[in-house]
Amino acid sequence: MIDAFARSQNYRVGIYVADKQRNPFNVKRAKEHVVIPDLNIEQICKFAKRYKHKIDFGIVGPEKPIINGIRDIVEKEIDIPLICPTKEYALEASKVAQRLLFQRVVPETNPKFKVFNPKDYTVTAVKREVNKWLNEIGNEVAVKPDRPAAGKGVGVWGDHFNTREELVDHFMSNIEYGPVIIEEKIEGEESSFQAFCDGKHLVPLPETRDYKRAFDKDKGPNTGGMGSYKDVGDILPFMTTVDKEKEIDIVNKVFRELRRRAASTDLRGIPFYDAFIHTSAGPKLLENNSRPGDPEIQNILPVLKDDFVDICYKMLEGNLIGVNLETKATVVTYKVPPNYGGFVDTFPERVKTDEANKPVSLVQAEKLAEKYKDAIRIYPASTELRENGNIYALRSRAVSVVGIGNSIHEAREISLEGTKEITGGSLWNRTDIASREHIRKSIEHMEKLRLSKR
Ligand code: GLY
Repeated sequence: MIDAFARSQNYRVGIYVADKQRNPFNVKRAKEHVVIPDLNIEQICKFAKRYKHKIDFGIVGPEKPIINGIRDIVEKEIDIPLICPTKEYALEASKVAQRLLFQRVVPETNPKFKVFNPKDYTVTAVKREVNKWLNEIGNEVAVKPDRPAAGKGVGVWGDHFNTREELVDHFMSNIEYGPVIIEEKIEGEESSFQAFCDGKHLVPLPETRDYKRAFDKDKGPNTGGMGSYKDVGDILPFMTTVDKEKEIDIVNKVFRELRRRAASTDLRGIPFYDAFIHTSAGPKLLENNSRPGDPEIQNILPVLKDDFVDICYKMLEGNLIGVNLETKATVVTYKVPPNYGGFVDTFPERVKTDEANKPVSLVQAEKLAEKYKDAIRIYPASTELRENGNIYALRSRAVSVVGIGNSIHEAREISLEGTKEITGGSLWNRTDIASREHIRKSIEHMEKLRLSKR
């Protein structure tokens, strides 16, 4: 988003950034930059207050401050309008509330699910009820705590547990912290739906595909997302236009339900990054977020034809009814440190130990912008600019490389070339993001699922 603001042609933008660390990209472009490691909303509000006469509006990326009510506090205390929903509509705050909302409005998009609330059961009773539920729907399930991070978090059959006993153990380690959902594991191909929203209108954006698994061929643990792709048009190669229409219909139904009780601006922002799974029975909604997808939003913003500042003003005015994008494909590949996604434990021989403590150099990769006439973007993420002027990778996804092309393949080649030019920190990346092979498998999988329905 910082890049999209900095590239504005219609405005001279001064950017004030509250960041988790001294991100080199943001520091360079910000008029004022402050580090607030835990993104504490009172601290962010204090920072905004200092510059309130110079700030027209704010926009929020990560979910934590949205869930904690950053919009409510900043708008109330300093009257700076924010682009993100109010605390009440940060839907990802409760997985249970989400499922129940979908059940009221779009039940066909929910998998079979059951909510277990610790208040309703003794330990023995809850185990009995869980086993009863599993006897009904089978062991192939996902276990999802209502709120993240208390116990072991989301667990999926085949990934986190392989026996009923392990499954129940996983469930029990979470139920002591609050409600837990057990829902059927859905088979299909995943896509990310995103939309801009002014509180009244939803403007769907082209579909993207996120790669959650750490390693090539979708092996290894789930991560925040190792990369993503978008095709030249609105849908992905394994989707049909009907799939996209169904998604839009589902999201609109949820949106209309929220609007029945929300004030017209409460939902303003980018409240809809929805993870869908395309199944033999149509798209199923995995989750709904009030923030953009990371990396998925990086597939979109670099190919906006409209000025992002104008889009933001329209979101604030409540008159955003469409956006224009270039007909380009984009591929994002994240470079991540050795301890991310269990890489160092799985492939110790592939870690360049002599590079591990060296600073990350982006110079060569950034030079590719000349060769590719700006069809490449290098975005440092979990990296820090230190006093010595060097950039160091931290613990999470370190640098993303966005390739922009006339086809997915072209965009992928650019993105991969960029990753090769980033040195230091012993960073690694998946090499099959948006590969022909991976996309072919997705297409075949969907064909098989569609046929199985007939
Ligand atoms: N890439 C998935 C997410 O943003 O949560």
